Amino acid sequence: MRKRRKIAGTVRVPGDKSISHRAVMLSALAEGESRIRGFLHAGDTLSTVAMVRALGAEVREISPTELCITGCGLRGLSEPEDVLDAGNSGTTMRIGAGILAAQPFLTVVTGDRYLRRRPMKRIVEPLSRMGASITGRRGNTLPPLCIRGGKLSGMRYEMPVASAQVKSALLLAGLYAAGPTTVVEPLPSRDHTERMLSSMGAKIARRGNEVTVQPASQLLPLSIDVPADMSSAAFFLVLSACVPGAELRLAGIGVNPLRTGLITVLRKMGAEIQMESLREEGGEPVADIVVHGAELTGTEVSPGEIPALIDEVPALCVAAALARGRTVIRGAGELRVKESDRIGAMAAALSLLGVSCEEAPDGIRIDGPAEIAPGVRCDSHGDHRIAMSLEVFSAATGVPIEVTDTACIDTSFPGFRELLEEVLA
Ligand code: S3P
Repeated sequence: MRKRRKIAGTVRVPGDKSISHRAVMLSALAEGESRIRGFLHAGDTLSTVAMVRALGAEVREISPTELCITGCGLRGLSEPEDVLDAGNSGTTMRIGAGILAAQPFLTVVTGDRYLRRRPMKRIVEPLSRMGASITGRRGNTLPPLCIRGGKLSGMRYEMPVASAQVKSALLLAGLYAAGPTTVVEPLPSRDHTERMLSSMGAKIARRGNEVTVQPASQLLPLSIDVPADMSSAAFFLVLSACVPGAELRLAGIGVNPLRTGLITVLRKMGAEIQMESLREEGGEPVADIVVHGAELTGTEVSPGEIPALIDEVPALCVAAALARGRTVIRGAGELRVKESDRIGAMAAALSLLGVSCEEAPDGIRIDGPAEIAPGVRCDSHGDHRIAMSLEVFSAATGVPIEVTDTACIDTSFPGFRELLEEVLA
């Protein structure tokens, strides 16, 4: 029996994860004191804080969400005494490798059992081409990575897959290179690194699908208010968009156009979503997002739409399961190598719950609307976004779902459960 509760209120989700990581790393490389307000205090971003501390930056916690970082300057980092642990965080390891590739010392970077399965050739290969020496397990493709940095040369690199992590790693290495470094993207990915570097005085320019960074001698310190994370807001967006009668305001969300693909797709499905009080904070567009629930219909999501909603696909699968008709998502093969195989994990969970769906190598087809079976146990695969998507599915339908291993939610969204309860109150 469905016992769906009313969905209403105003929600403020934590700070943006991507921007928090970058703010910490770039502050560590800046001259002098940087201030970061609205920092995401969560497992992943704390791995980045631990990394920059181990490299010599001083990080003072004014409060859990406000940091004061005394940077070492671009050439002032020191060799860490021990192995660096990126935990579950691909961003820490991959973007961090871009910095480490340019340091005149040795670092070894490892991660948890999920991160140690994730592909690293995508950074090892181009950073090696720039002149760094990087080795890793399985023919230099898997963590731990052993990085002996050195003198780098600039290069022009055409990325085989759209990846903001790879692009960012190369741009940061490029700050140290002997000449300009150009990264060519197959599709545009989030540009937080470019925006932040530019605000810190680096010379960085975009032309079409290329971004070029010039070598730098110093970075100015940062003073930033990190917007709330669109990828965390996504769970509440989906919850409120597909339950008729729901009314939710999501305050102060970062609405960088390279991150708002979920809103575009939900609107195509019939969702009523408005952006209000559009403003700029910390060099990023920010808005309050107002959602009124509606009956959604299925849609097609094409490969070109994927980068702007890459982390939101699990949540979108929930919207698709609740929508009338067929949704097809294509060109999302990258999801197979995220914190878990997110296509496989969502297809397995939805099937167990009785949703008609079929996975493809690069996507999924889902037929809705679903009448889901109660009392089913679904595996999160230790993946925060799978766990939260399933909890939202349960909240939207009023059908209890037992989700395994929900501790992983803390890697990106501590307080998620409490916020969900508030919204349902
Ligand atoms: C991120 C980029 C994306 C995204 C990840 C965060 C970033 O990964 O999925 O959660 O902060 O740059 P890819 O670069 O692998 O696409």
